[in-house]
Amino acid sequence: MPETEGPTRLWGGRFAGGPADALARLSVSVHFDWRLAPYDIAASRAHARVLAAAGLLDPDELGQMLAALDDLESACAAGEFRPTIEDEDVHTALERGLLERLGTLGGKLRAGRSRNDQVATDLRLYLRDHARGVAAAVVELADALMEQAGRHVDTPAPGLTHVQHAQPVSFGHWLLAHVQPLLRDLERLRDWDERAALSPLGSGALAGSSLPLDPTAVAKELGFKAPVQNSMDGVADRDFAAEFLFITSLLGVHLSRLGEEVVLWTSTEFGWVILDDAFATGSSIMPQKKNADIAELARGKAGRLIGGLVAVLTMLKGLPLTYDRDMQEDKEPVFDAVDTLEILLPALAGMISTMTVRVDRLAAAAPVGFSLATEVADWLVRKGIPFRDAHEITGSLVALCAARECELEDVTDDDLKAVSEHLDPSVRQVLSVRSALAARTTPGSTGPGPVADQLQIAGDKLDGWRTWAAEQVVPR
Ligand code: ARG
Repeated sequence: MPETEGPTRLWGGRFAGGPADALARLSVSVHFDWRLAPYDIAASRAHARVLAAAGLLDPDELGQMLAALDDLESACAAGEFRPTIEDEDVHTALERGLLERLGTLGGKLRAGRSRNDQVATDLRLYLRDHARGVAAAVVELADALMEQAGRHVDTPAPGLTHVQHAQPVSFGHWLLAHVQPLLRDLERLRDWDERAALSPLGSGALAGSSLPLDPTAVAKELGFKAPVQNSMDGVADRDFAAEFLFITSLLGVHLSRLGEEVVLWTSTEFGWVILDDAFATGSSIMPQKKNADIAELARGKAGRLIGGLVAVLTMLKGLPLTYDRDMQEDKEPVFDAVDTLEILLPALAGMISTMTVRVDRLAAAAPVGFSLATEVADWLVRKGIPFRDAHEITGSLVALCAARECELEDVTDDDLKAVSEHLDPSVRQVLSVRSALAARTTPGSTGPGPVADQLQIAGDKLDGWRTWAAEQVVPR
């Protein structure tokens, strides 16, 4: 039986009446923080156990409390217990559920804890759990890039700087250049997780508790490494939310850059990639259209992810210690970041794994725009010419070809000699895309050997991340 008539409220003793509707509407968070319910219940179980260990619940009461929490958890999962608009937040709704099941005994669980340490704990639990889901989806996208890269180790493509033809590269190497940032994102998630793995529960409102609780036992039960060192910081700190949003923003930027390239590659002008019908969209008026909407949404959603980071940093910057209600605004941006990535990453993975690479068009484009000019300069360097001079000589050769509208390999032996005494017909051996690629044998370069090594190393790393992402750290 509830303690009071009317809606459950976790405060009220000193208030003459209920809150104004306008206040209630502003302050309510249960419509978005309800997703914290399973984590709040897990934390309640741990808290009930330390209350019992402290002699504040007898064994029978603990048994009833744990049974009621289990029942409430199943009722929530089955959708039988739902928050109402009268529940201010997830903590209020769940206390109502407990009171409905236990009567006055349900009111004992709040001893020694506050919504301030509860919400900080719940959000860390939620994010540690979902960071692994995001990581698994990043691995899936990296796998798709790896698979395509494996098919195109030997596919020449025109490498670009400033979106101008620069030097030939292997298309596999290019795809793997999108895997590397994802590997760094995964590393960032794991590093973040190490710092996020501290339990604020036991901080109470801000000062800890006068009751003989055991924050270390609670931390352990909830999969944290330890409790926080300072109760004031425990309830005031949202670094873990801001840092998480930085990681998701940077990941969003990486996905956006990949998206932008796919938009270019699938354009008629490039024509390097054809998207599978299942991962492209059409136009309502132009029957011929096939658009790379997934790639464009990847670009667009980066803005939203960055917006979440900016919102949380701005919300935090002027806040005095410890908890302030402003901090309720931390949740929607992080939830939105998780939701956005859980939807975006699988779509990108599907788009990449099913796309068809136009090997013929890539190979034809690879030498265009005098992209082998550096090969000529390097050939001169190998003959002992200082690079500064080699650059000038090759530049003159390019100017000659540009004036004649021909390619480097089209000039005659006499033309070569006329450009420089150092240029002889044997320079032609470096004027092929294949030889330019094969000549690149140093680690990290675009030759077939180093690209195969890169595939191997990235594959091993991804296996490690798969294991990490599958770990169940948070009890649910
Ligand atoms: N819904 C609140 C939040 O998300 C929970 C903490 C409320 N604490 C308080 N003292 N009013 O921040």
